[in-house]
Amino acid sequence: MAVDRSALVAWYLKNRARSRGLFDLLAEEAYYSQPIALRHPIVFYEGHLPGFSFNTLVKKGLGRPGIDARLEALFARGIDPDEKAGEAGRAGGAGGAGGNQWPSRDVVRAFADEADRQVIDALANGDIDQPGHPLLDRAEAAFAILEHEAMHQETLLYMWHRLPFEQKRRPADYAPLVDGVAPRARERIDIPAGCATLGVARGTVPFAWDNETPALSAEVPAFSIDRHDVTNERFLEFVDAGGYRDADFWRPEDWEWVQREQVQHPLFWERHEGRWYWRGMFSLLPLPLQWPVYVSHAEAAAFARWAGARLPTEAEFQRAAFGSTAGERSHPWGDAEPAAVHGAFDFSSWDPEPVGTHPMGASAWGVEDLVGNGWEWTSTTFGPFPGFRVLPSYPEYSADFFDGEHFVMKGASTATARELLRPTFRNWFRGRYPYVYATFRCAV
Ligand SMILES: [Fe+2]
Repeated sequence: MAVDRSALVAWYLKNRARSRGLFDLLAEEAYYSQPIALRHPIVFYEGHLPGFSFNTLVKKGLGRPGIDARLEALFARGIDPDEKAGEAGRAGGAGGAGGNQWPSRDVVRAFADEADRQVIDALANGDIDQPGHPLLDRAEAAFAILEHEAMHQETLLYMWHRLPFEQKRRPADYAPLVDGVAPRARERIDIPAGCATLGVARGTVPFAWDNETPALSAEVPAFSIDRHDVTNERFLEFVDAGGYRDADFWRPEDWEWVQREQVQHPLFWERHEGRWYWRGMFSLLPLPLQWPVYVSHAEAAAFARWAGARLPTEAEFQRAAFGSTAGERSHPWGDAEPAAVHGAFDFSSWDPEPVGTHPMGASAWGVEDLVGNGWEWTSTTFGPFPGFRVLPSYPEYSADFFDGEHFVMKGASTATARELLRPTFRNWFRGRYPYVYATFRCAV
């Protein structure tokens, strides 16, 4: 099938406009700050997004000359995989740049503009779809750069989340979704034994990342899974019951983290004058009890153990989300294209919404919010499917993280672009990384 150049250009422009909008949310003084120690300072990302696109498609793919070797190297890499200190963090930025070696914003923007100009020209006119080419077969590099930027937008948002409120410009139409809804019944749904697709054959979809291929399916025994994500209200019971003070609920390495970092509650929660609050993107809210709790894998697993349950495996998530008595679906709700009626994703809101707000997005079994309103932790360690091959356009995308310390997350959050909503898409983080828009539900 011929590549649709105008669709690729439109997607690139949409990505760039959205990224610009995200940077425009910030006050100028935030530009060189580093809201999360494990990530780069903000300046890096304004250069990295167009820099990666230029480097991957134009320079490596089409073999055209570079723009500026120093800036291309500076903006090359999003996260340092050699960072083994984990959640303890590390000083300074990666990529060989110390705090004051970052260029001025004018320099970054001039580089970005030139990269944009050349990427758009390549998408519109370049020979970007070359059968048999290591990077350009089926326009792989074009899709890789488009999905890369969309994924980074979620990363930017959870970084912005950690900035002081006064460093962010609240959009005129911002209003936090009010809680004020009745709690949903706590209910587990029985899922019958069956087959779940985990991976897809390269070449049968327009694009898939290396970790999604090749085709793989799993036989899943019968299990039960929560209809709704665990809410702040439910998680508060674990906190009040002393869950953060009892080693029995934690893996030894997670317990060591709880003690060392004195973790006492989810990072998104704050305690002021005896009351719980939720740190939203633009303001502090009284803890919205019916929102999904956002926690690290370590906290999710501890809660599950306390509740006499466990996290679902990746295969169980797939079965609960995409299985049905009549075969597998493209999305939990069926084969219809993702739309606002199906869930909270595609930058639909700045904060999550009460669980169960989108029953139209329920899976065939009636499990709700599987795609949207927060990624969902699974118990599955992130690893390659048998027959894994790296993607030449982005060889380090997955392989650097097959270290046994990262767990698979599935689904989507409010800040996940709709283009990424396909059943085989996988996300992953370290078990004690508390910053992401990730929730969970229990299985037995
Ligand atoms: Fe990146």
